[in-house]
Amino acid sequence: LDNGVMRVPPMGWLAWERFRCETDCVRNPHTCISERLFMEMADRLVKDGWSHAGYKYVNIDDCWTEKKRNATTGRLVPDLKRFPNGIKPLADYIHSLGLKLGIYADLGNFTCGGYPGTTLDQIQLDAQTFAEWGVDMVKLDGCYSTPEERAIGYPKMSKALNKTGRVIAYSCSWPAYDGGLPPKVNYTLLGEICNLWRNYGDIQDSWDSVLNIVNWWGKYQDILIPAAGPGHWNDPDMLIVGDFSLSEGESRAQLAMWAILAAPLFMSNDLRRIGRTARALLQHPGPININQDPLGIQGRLFFSTASLDVWKRQLKGGRYAIAVLNKGTGGTPKKVELSLSSLNITTAQFYVITDVYEDKPLGLYKPNASFHFSVNPSDVLLLLVEPLS
Ligand code: DGJ
Repeated sequence: LDNGVMRVPPMGWLAWERFRCETDCVRNPHTCISERLFMEMADRLVKDGWSHAGYKYVNIDDCWTEKKRNATTGRLVPDLKRFPNGIKPLADYIHSLGLKLGIYADLGNFTCGGYPGTTLDQIQLDAQTFAEWGVDMVKLDGCYSTPEERAIGYPKMSKALNKTGRVIAYSCSWPAYDGGLPPKVNYTLLGEICNLWRNYGDIQDSWDSVLNIVNWWGKYQDILIPAAGPGHWNDPDMLIVGDFSLSEGESRAQLAMWAILAAPLFMSNDLRRIGRTARALLQHPGPININQDPLGIQGRLFFSTASLDVWKRQLKGGRYAIAVLNKGTGGTPKKVELSLSSLNITTAQFYVITDVYEDKPLGLYKPNASFHFSVNPSDVLLLLVEPLS
C-alpha cells in the first residue's frame, strides 16, 4: 500500500501470542489485556534499548473492547475496567515516548475471541474512530467472515482508513483466511490495499510451529517473493524469541529466517521479564540490518537437503545474506561445504564473508573458493557476503 509508511518491514511488539485473551485483571493484574500492559511494554521499549534498535510499534490485539458497542453511537468501546481512560490517552502516552500504537479489529460479527466485530456497514465508523484516537496501525482479522465479505471488506477498510486523512498502516489477515494461495488470494491486489498481511496460520510458542511456517514459506516462495516489497510485506507472524520454548539456537534461527524473509518483526513476549540472552539477540544489529534492507527483496530457499536449508537474500550494494538452517533432524552438528559460486554469487572478484551473530569476519573469498563450517541441530548460520570494493 502506497501510503508512505513501512518502506522497510515494521518492528515492534504485539500482545497476542504471549498474552492472548486474558481479561481477568483482578486475578492477573500484570498479564491481562489492559492499558497497564501496553504502557508497561511501551516503557520497556524505550528504557531497555528496544526503540533504539528499531522496535517502535506497541500493538493491541483481540479482546480489548466491551462485549457490546455503544448503543447510541454504534462505536467500539474499550473495556471500561481495563482501559479506564480510553484509547486516546494511551495513544498520546505512546506517542510521547516516540512510539506508535496499533489496534485490532475483525471483519465479521465477532472477533475470534467473541468481542464485537466490524461488519461491512461499520467499517467507515471504526476507521474514523481509530483515526480520532490517534491510532497508527490497524490489524483487520477475519474470523466470522465469508469469502464474499472479505472481498468487499478488506478493500473497503483500506479506502476508509485513507479517507480519515490520518496515515494508518494496514495489516490484513485476508489471505490467511483464504488458504494463502492463488487463485483464491490475489497478491497484486493485497499489495495495493495493505501494508502487510498474514498469509498463513498463527504461530505458537514452539520450534515445530516456526519450522512449519518456514517450510510453507519455502514451498510457496515463487508466489510469495514477488508479493513483497517496500510498503507491502508478507507476514509469517510474531517473533516468539524470549518466550518459553525456543532454545538459543532456535531463537537465532527464527530471527535469522525472519530477517531473510523480510518479515515484520513484531515480538510477542514479556519485555518486563525477558532474559538477557534473548534481549541481546533481538537487539543484535546484524539480523535487524538484514531485515531492514532498503531494497526490500524477500529471500529465497536456494537449495535444501533433508535436514538443511540454504536461504539467500539479495541486499543493497551487491551484498547478500545467507542463512544455513539446520532443521534439527539428527543429533550432531552438520558439516557444510559451500562456495559463493554454488550460491550464484559471482560478480565481484572477492567477497568478505562475515558470521553475523558472531560479528566475526570469516575471511576474503573468491567466488570459486570453498569454505567449511558446521551448523548445530536446530540452529542457523547467518552470513553476510559483501563484495570487496
Ligand atoms: C487470529 C489471528 O491470526 C491472531 O493473530 C490473533 O489476532 C487472534 N485471531 C486473536 O483472536
